[in-house]
Amino acid sequence: MHPPRRILVTTALPYANGPFHVGHIMEYIQADIWVRFQRMQGNVVHFVGADDAHGAPIMLAAEKAGTSPEAFVAGIAAGRKQYLDGFHIRFDHWHSTHSPENTQLSQDIYKRLSKAGLVYKKPVEQFYDPVKGMFLADRYIKGECPKCGAKDQYGDACENCSSVYAPTDLINPYSTLSGAKPVRKSSEHYFFRLSDEACVAFLRDWIDVPGQLQPQVANKAREWLDGEGDKALGDWDISRDAPYFGIEIPDAPGKYFYVWLDAPIGYLASFKAYCAKNGLDFEGFLADENTEQVHFIGKDIIYFHTLFWPAMLKYAGPFYKVPTNVFVHGFITVSGDKMSKSRGTGISPLRYLELGMNPEWLRYYIAAKLNANVEDLDFNPDDFIARVNSDLVGKYINIASRCAPFLRNKFDGKLLSMEADGAGAGSLLDEVQSQAGEIGSLIDSREYGKALRQVMTLADSVNHYVDEKKPWEIAKRAGEEHQLHVVCTVAINAFRLLTLYLKPVMPKLAENVERFLNIPPMTWQDAGTLLPADHQINAYKHLMTRVEPKQLDALFDLPAAAPEEKKTVTAPAAPATPPPAPSPAPDGSSTISIDDFAKVDLRVALIANAEAVEGADKLVKLTLDLGTGTRTVFAGIKSAYAPDQLKGRLTVMVANLAPRKMRFGLSEGMVLAASGDGPGIFLLSPDSGAQPGMKVK
Ligand code: 2FM
Ligand code: ZN
Repeated sequence: MHPPRRILVTTALPYANGPFHVGHIMEYIQADIWVRFQRMQGNVVHFVGADDAHGAPIMLAAEKAGTSPEAFVAGIAAGRKQYLDGFHIRFDHWHSTHSPENTQLSQDIYKRLSKAGLVYKKPVEQFYDPVKGMFLADRYIKGECPKCGAKDQYGDACENCSSVYAPTDLINPYSTLSGAKPVRKSSEHYFFRLSDEACVAFLRDWIDVPGQLQPQVANKAREWLDGEGDKALGDWDISRDAPYFGIEIPDAPGKYFYVWLDAPIGYLASFKAYCAKNGLDFEGFLADENTEQVHFIGKDIIYFHTLFWPAMLKYAGPFYKVPTNVFVHGFITVSGDKMSKSRGTGISPLRYLELGMNPEWLRYYIAAKLNANVEDLDFNPDDFIARVNSDLVGKYINIASRCAPFLRNKFDGKLLSMEADGAGAGSLLDEVQSQAGEIGSLIDSREYGKALRQVMTLADSVNHYVDEKKPWEIAKRAGEEHQLHVVCTVAINAFRLLTLYLKPVMPKLAENVERFLNIPPMTWQDAGTLLPADHQINAYKHLMTRVEPKQLDALFDLPAAAPEEKKTVTAPAAPATPPPAPSPAPDGSSTISIDDFAKVDLRVALIANAEAVEGADKLVKLTLDLGTGTRTVFAGIKSAYAPDQLKGRLTVMVANLAPRKMRFGLSEGMVLAASGDGPGIFLLSPDSGAQPGMKVK
């Protein structure tokens, strides 16, 4: 027997400026499955997360919301639990990088790096907004492209001609925060000597440790280390000037750590807070050479986790530990569409839950499509329906639903002994049991898709056995009770083993199965045993329903309306962005400026055509004439209007909404309608005389 592994597991810390999107949920599901599996193996795992609270964008978002950054991030943090609980993601602890633990650890690490001679100061000249009184990161500067003259281009690249430049090259630059002309200003910055020879040598060795990084990730990291010319590895600017929402640099008034310095330290801060709460030895756990420190992250933050983070930890010295593994996943796309980091994809995790969709369908689906490579995962509605209904319900659940009732009705729920009575069936159970090691090692290496394929192949074998034996026919024949008993006992034993293999992926379902089978929580070792003779199972209650296509329609067609949205004008076919972040303004009185309102291009539109959408209960396909051309819009107003009633009417549409791919086609805007708590949807109409294309303001 190996001694149990001791593992600290983290997922990337999400910025505390918006709710979780499905990309976050996918990463948490991937890590949660791994953690649950390790625990089933008897390993000791601590699984922690936190909000990444610092940085200029959060500071500015709080200002815009009329609140303090502390209150703003607290508002976001308060919204996390419903997602995590909802998808059975069981972090041991959720913390914040804006915390005493993180301040202490960040300052400690910084002091150690400084003492090791790896920090130095040098002046940096940057654009400064004299009105706002702050230095401007590139994303807050716009101006005219130095190559083609296009207006309103960002400080790094032109969207019109694609040329790349420095913000200081922009013609007539302006600050997007105040509109002021930025001035060049110099200030002292603190740098971490990443390019130090010893540091680079350490990183080369660290990257090469076999099994530590995925090959694609190691290659990427090596490429950065080997960069030459303008791609050469530089030192890392770790300071930002006040005003900044962050952690103060010791002995450097007005200087703060750049958010990316204290963010990964937040992993340790969360673990430290958890240890304090649970009487665990934080430093002792990390200092132990057998402890593994494992980070699950997305492919966009490899640089930080394979260069800065291990280097910081290495030179901070004991008790800090360099990561044992950085496990990188790709992005989630929806029907091939890329996700936007801020807006997420067309799937709102909260809406998914509000619709009563089973969280374990999504866990299963994501797991079935995950592997150990850095590949994107595509959520495809039809594929989702097929995998849940055909595999999960049709193959796996089917085994129990077909056999359990016979056991309860004819044998008082009692099983036979497989060793003594299962002649001829032993080989099937042997086969199911014999895969425990391989399925386990696939899950351990994050090849979840392969593991689940193996489980479903076993489910096929079990179904094949049941189909051949036909217990429903045996039950009709007199004198064949024993044979019926054997078949059902075999099937239920197999079902138990398959449940065990699926348990990390579907923990709630496994719990229900354990209750139904009347057994204690299963560990991986239990794959070596069968249920004993005379073991009595409980009555079978249905374990999982099928997903209905209309649930997916609802998921994609109508965003969840936040309660306060319901009384205002609502958008039946609004884009499927996640619901807005809860406004952290304490009095709830967030307002927008007239400029914000002016961004919405509202137009009078003539409904030139309206037709029902096959397969969608709520949608009407509208062809809207704007005078200058037509647009197709899918609107969720079918419950209130027959398509024929709509033709020829004038209404109001949002004309500058980004087009959105829906299951039925591209929706190029949305129409406005009112709704309240009661039934009814009321489409807006302009007064008579309005013409298609007129602007509404
Ligand atoms: O990219 C992001 O969303 C960052 N907030 C991730 C930070 S991960 C860790 F370093 F905290
Ligand atoms: Zn240009």
